[in-house]
Amino acid sequence: MLDKIQDLLREVDAVVVNSKEDLEKFRLKFISRKGLLNELFDEFKTVPNEQKKAVGQELNKLKNLAEQKLRDFTEALEQSAGSADANKGLDLTLPVAPNFAGTVHPLTLTRQRILEIFARMGFNHEDGPEVETDWYNFTALNFAENHPAREMQDTFFVEKKDVQKDDVLLRTHTSNVQVRLMEHKKPPIRSVMLGRVYRNEAISARAHCQFHQIEGLYVDKNVSFKDLKDTLYHFAKEMFGQDTKIRLRPSYFPFTEPSAEIDISCFICKGSGCNICKHTGWVEIAGSGMVDPNVLENSGIDSEEYTGFAFGMGIERITMLRYGVRDLRLFFENDVRFLRQFEGA
Ligand code: PHE
Repeated sequence: MLDKIQDLLREVDAVVVNSKEDLEKFRLKFISRKGLLNELFDEFKTVPNEQKKAVGQELNKLKNLAEQKLRDFTEALEQSAGSADANKGLDLTLPVAPNFAGTVHPLTLTRQRILEIFARMGFNHEDGPEVETDWYNFTALNFAENHPAREMQDTFFVEKKDVQKDDVLLRTHTSNVQVRLMEHKKPPIRSVMLGRVYRNEAISARAHCQFHQIEGLYVDKNVSFKDLKDTLYHFAKEMFGQDTKIRLRPSYFPFTEPSAEIDISCFICKGSGCNICKHTGWVEIAGSGMVDPNVLENSGIDSEEYTGFAFGMGIERITMLRYGVRDLRLFFENDVRFLRQFEGA
């Protein structure tokens, strides 16, 4: 009898069921009332006592295996029946529909990074208006009436008034916020102001009629040119890499004295000369200087007691350097093929 049970164990183990009919056959043969298992249990009663233990164990094994198989096959058949229904009318050979998440705009990435660096140096973030009066954009910043520097920043005028300082315009730089801040706050002031500015320029790969700037302003007792240099040096290293060097070139802005243009060592060619730095080894990133005493006075701050420094940088320019973007227009066209390249940047 033991041999018979073992043969059946192998048979049950090897059985394959593909349809409900096969399953029913299996059930009838092994598990139904007249099936083999019941027959074997009847026969078991005749087994001599000394063999009962061994035969009983095997017989139970067979019973468990057959019942397990019946459950598994039943479940498998039910599942495939269910999914066949659900899939009716679906073409499972179609490619998966891609699920594209939006990406952060490269200018936003740069803006976040810049704000983060200055926040760690104790600069808070301030905001100012884009539609501005001549006073805040020019006159209070020490631009004399009809000074040629006004012409350098091709201005979009919104409304001409009788008095020049009342003219309404689109701000040509973020320096307007300097005056607005100093009017309302007492030193120490340590702020960055970031936003959109407008200039009436022909649109090309290198110029646009709208772009973004970040302005920095630090006013307190004993603020020196050294503080300006240290701050921008630290910024350049954080932004472009620890081996970045800076260079200051004398320059002119009506609202700073002395003024300097800030260059950084070209981080693409490390100074050996490339297209980005036009083979000079240096790229310009900012205008800066010590706040002119006239500007402090125009904003209600005692220039005998306080000094300050200011700087302004183009966000597009820094983003172009950072990611090797060659055409400014790409930032405003919202072509997703361009934007998607900054996924995870
Ligand atoms: N406002 C200047 C510009 O747009 C940059 C600047 C800001 C220079 C602050 C000096 C100090 O070019």
